[in-house]
Amino acid sequence: MRRCDDRCRGTDAGGDAAPGAARGGRPGRVPDPLIAALDGRVPGHSLPAPLYTDPGLFQRELRLLWQRQWLFVGSVAEVREPGDYFTVDLGASSVLVLRDDDEQVRAFHNVCRHRGSRLVTDDHGSVGNIVCGYHQWTYGTDGRLLHAPQLSAEVDTSCLALRAVALHDLAGLLYVSLSPEPSSDLAEVDRVVAPYVAPHGLARTKVAAQTDIVEQGNWKLVMENNRECYHCEGGHPELTRTFFPTWGLDPDQIPPHLQHDHDRYLLAEADLQRACDVRSLPHAVVEDLEDRPVGFWVQREPLDGAGESFSRDGSRLVSRLLGELPDHRMGRLSLHTQPNAWVHLLADHVVTFSVLPVAVDRTLVRTTWLVHEDAVEGVDYDVPTLTEVWRRTNEQDATFVARTQAGVTDPAYLPGPYSRAERHVESFLRWYDARVREEAAR
Ligand code: FES
Ligand SMILES: [Fe+2]
Repeated sequence: MRRCDDRCRGTDAGGDAAPGAARGGRPGRVPDPLIAALDGRVPGHSLPAPLYTDPGLFQRELRLLWQRQWLFVGSVAEVREPGDYFTVDLGASSVLVLRDDDEQVRAFHNVCRHRGSRLVTDDHGSVGNIVCGYHQWTYGTDGRLLHAPQLSAEVDTSCLALRAVALHDLAGLLYVSLSPEPSSDLAEVDRVVAPYVAPHGLARTKVAAQTDIVEQGNWKLVMENNRECYHCEGGHPELTRTFFPTWGLDPDQIPPHLQHDHDRYLLAEADLQRACDVRSLPHAVVEDLEDRPVGFWVQREPLDGAGESFSRDGSRLVSRLLGELPDHRMGRLSLHTQPNAWVHLLADHVVTFSVLPVAVDRTLVRTTWLVHEDAVEGVDYDVPTLTEVWRRTNEQDATFVARTQAGVTDPAYLPGPYSRAERHVESFLRWYDARVREEAAR
């Protein structure tokens, strides 16, 4: 019998340099084209056009960032029962996330160990075992190869399990990394962030709705657009009913016409902080967006209007509260993680956003609304009302992103300066710049 060795396990042995590219621009080597493009970045300004438009640079990003970093892909609510699964495309890779028969959430490369066929072709569903549709090789939910019709007994099937992908469950939020040596930084971020997220009880939620939008823009434009609310006042009439329009502004930046909104914000913030302190819920901002592999920002902030949820007047959208939360007026707990996520956790529902690049000028934004598993549709909530504000906001953001992609593709485009209200955009680009250089130098 042939022995299982590193080759049959399929460990990564291949190099990762782009054709003709060297690492980190060392003397005597051909400069990495992505580093060369980044060298043209002016801090505090939007990026040079090729970083939004060049397909070759996009492929290099896939290799240096998307195959190396921790990426937010969904939540435990999407794999509630053994056998439940969903798939995520990351560049050329497809990742299968599923709950195994022992209730553990796992991730695998969605590639058959026989001749490489995609195993699962639906984007979500439920299986008993994982059966390849080509020659019926059959894998357990733990990835082991259980059955391979007519395969010689000489072949050691124990080394033909599905190839595992690193997965981390952060209080119910699921992150994967395609790297064979994923950063340990997510465990450290988990220790800070989990106490904020855990009270929302994601393990006892279900998916109320999910939308996939393919925005017509580079993934960085999608992220940049998310990391500021400079455009909210004019761009998001529904969202700003509950999302204070002063988000991202320091007190000395508040324009006169928003001073009244800021005063109301301060009162609501003081009320919310008292409510959190009484219940020992963490609320203070923690911001570490630039310098670590899993850059993040977390904060609990008040909602405007009735202060309960993302509705047109701020009143509750789901009557059933999440987790152990005792009151609807718990504001919004907002979490950003680099490079591809933002999540809002309210007392009555959670909405998660996962950004996944499709092409240099197309990006999938997956939005998922979670409610308590015992909440009854039509009684405790209804989907059109629950999803209205963020559906509209997503549509508006998709329009901004598409217009910007068209503009940065125009030969007349020149990078422009960020306002102080866009400091999280600059933080995102500093993180991006640092990670690209770091990974290229490895
Ligand atoms: S490729 Fe999957 S069973 Fe043959
Ligand atoms: Fe927006």
